[in-house]
Amino acid sequence: MYLSREEEKILQGESGEAKRLAMKILCALGDFFHAEKLIKIESSHVSGVSYKTGGDALIEVLENFVENKSKTVITTSLNPSGMDRTNWKEMGVKDDFASKQNKIIEMYQSMGIFDVCSCVPYELGNVAKIGDHISFSESSAVTFMNSFFGAHTNRESGLSALASAILGKTPQYGLHLPDNRIPEVAVEIDAKLTNPTDYGLVGYCIGKNFSSKIPILQKISSMDIQQTKSISAAMAASGSIPLFYINDYACEKFEEKDLEKIIIDQKHLEELKEDFAPTSPPDIVMIGCPHASVSTLKTISELLESPVSNRMKFWIFTSRPIRLVAESMGYVQKIERMGAKIFCDTCPVVCPMPSFDLALTDSIKAVHYLPTMSKIESAAGSLEDCIKIAMGRKLQ
Ligand code: F3S
Repeated sequence: MYLSREEEKILQGESGEAKRLAMKILCALGDFFHAEKLIKIESSHVSGVSYKTGGDALIEVLENFVENKSKTVITTSLNPSGMDRTNWKEMGVKDDFASKQNKIIEMYQSMGIFDVCSCVPYELGNVAKIGDHISFSESSAVTFMNSFFGAHTNRESGLSALASAILGKTPQYGLHLPDNRIPEVAVEIDAKLTNPTDYGLVGYCIGKNFSSKIPILQKISSMDIQQTKSISAAMAASGSIPLFYINDYACEKFEEKDLEKIIIDQKHLEELKEDFAPTSPPDIVMIGCPHASVSTLKTISELLESPVSNRMKFWIFTSRPIRLVAESMGYVQKIERMGAKIFCDTCPVVCPMPSFDLALTDSIKAVHYLPTMSKIESAAGSLEDCIKIAMGRKLQ
């Protein structure tokens, strides 16, 4: 990879060990992917925060950065950690885990990274405009940023996103190049999608069928934020799709050509719903993968009109700023009065979840990861159905 004189000097250590380390990581990445050069980026989002997934190795890597006085030079946000930073005891988190988790977050914070810990940084100010180059490392957020904002990011690792944040640059390869952003397959949606979970099912199906190919979705109208969050998270989980287009709403223009195509019709959607439906009563209902928005907390506060059944838990995951806004509107108080819990800074997949038999969630991504990452069998339903079941009601 070509380096400018200034970049060469950084690699030689003339700007300090922290930048040399970051440059070494980006050069290795750039060389591996045959990038021609480094390009400037506007912002970064760093995953690899939970002590559950990173362990002591993560602490060692971060200590190296911190000891060398690393500082980020662009807006940089942080993915969910392994616990609610205030109410971790309520989640069953042990003291040792909590102190190591706090140490990880404090180290990131000392580098100038916002310590908000959320997988929806785009709801918290880390946004982009069409064509901006960024470096994001949460798969659902990568697909969201590329597809909703028209930003340009690869699926970064936590380490490469951190190195990019320290240098304000990333190697120019993959989705930073227009030729690699052209749709490769088409998906015709011939089904009525009525809620974000339906969009998640469609995303799951696309990821399963097309792995990492870029799809263009046809016969579908523009999506709102909740629908885009859900479909992005699902297609990045069942496959590794980093970008999708909606026919008439594409941020970028390209020549139409004959593409391999699948059709998702109503029958197919109903079969998917059936496959994901619970086959026994759940003992926990979980909402907030990706992290719940203020509008979701508002909906829950309105629909949760009777107490949570004493046969189950109802846990909701979001970020502290979103909880604060919802609190100022009275939504949090209403939800908690009904017996549900709202946890911040973490998520059901990266925290050490207590043992449950079956989780019901509105998130197809959570259903995908809970059995392997948290050893909890899981099923999906719409937000409305999840809330009814949490109240102990039967679905019609
Ligand atoms: Fe976010 Fe965790 Fe789901 S990071 S997208 S809540 S798996």
